Amino acid sequence: MNIMKRLGTKQWGWIGLAAGLVLLVECGQQAEPPSRLEPAVQPAAVKWTIGMSQCNLGEPWRVQMNADIKKAAEAHPELTVIFKDAQNDTLKQRAHIEEFVSAGVDLIIVSPKEAAPLTPPIAKAYQAGIPVIVLDRRVLGDQYTCFIGADNKLIGEAAGRWIAETLGGRGNVVELKGLMTSTPGQDRNSGFRKGIEGTDIEIIFEADMKWLEPDARKEMESALGRFDHIDLVYAHNDPGAHGAYLAAKAAGREKEMKFVGIDALPHEGLAYVKQGILDACFEYPTGGREGIDIALKILQGEEVPREVTLRSRVFTPENIEQGGEWIGE
Ligand code: FRU
Repeated sequence: MNIMKRLGTKQWGWIGLAAGLVLLVECGQQAEPPSRLEPAVQPAAVKWTIGMSQCNLGEPWRVQMNADIKKAAEAHPELTVIFKDAQNDTLKQRAHIEEFVSAGVDLIIVSPKEAAPLTPPIAKAYQAGIPVIVLDRRVLGDQYTCFIGADNKLIGEAAGRWIAETLGGRGNVVELKGLMTSTPGQDRNSGFRKGIEGTDIEIIFEADMKWLEPDARKEMESALGRFDHIDLVYAHNDPGAHGAYLAAKAAGREKEMKFVGIDALPHEGLAYVKQGILDACFEYPTGGREGIDIALKILQGEEVPREVTLRSRVFTPENIEQGGEWIGE
């Protein structure tokens, strides 16, 4: 209903503009016959503005998400996307969402940094009648239109199973966790613990590296200092796994252990698998393209699912040339 109202307002706007044009033409020179003006007015009748709130652009995966959104939106001239980068600052991201609401955008796409603090502004936008698509990291409750993302519990569990199998059911593992106030961090942790249940895998060291490579490197230096035998590092994302690898390499111990990461960007995780840095890498699609598909449906007044779950693959040196292997099927 709200969309229809918004649409109506816009259409009236264009009609007003057209009327103004007619007036201008009539004042300034001889009036054109009305039939010559009409077609120029009609095609521009529908135009939507999407506000996209990205929690940071410091990580390659998020740059990729924005690029995916931009590319998908470019195929639809009736869409304009305004991107805002919160630079990993929750307060800034809250303000960005409020700004989108005041500006009266037609739809919001948001990839929130943290679940709890981003819930109220997103709920407020949704209650104000602006459709909201939440990408990748979740918020609390159900005050949004659609959530799009891969199943992080499933990915964590698949990683746990792969690790248990690869280590023969026992070994010393370091877990470098993503930001634990964000849902992918929580789910990649709980899924992983489920995947190794009933095995003799021991988590000898765990730390929150907040998704950041430098933090992961520092945490790994502590782990290396404390433990003289590590079989494997499970990091919640590829920058984390790479940071751990660099720390181990600096200590001359990178060959002692395996490294597992998540994201699988072609120029990041997949490249690391090809270079022999990562032993396994789980795909985490950005959902950018799907975000625009769903946005268009919403704007056109179509029904959309509350949740869109994206598929994920595991890549290893053995299967990477064949395009990896789907998980959970
Ligand atoms: C980028 C990132 C990815 C990770 C995702 C989880 O900010 O850390 O590496 O898979 O966020 O939300």
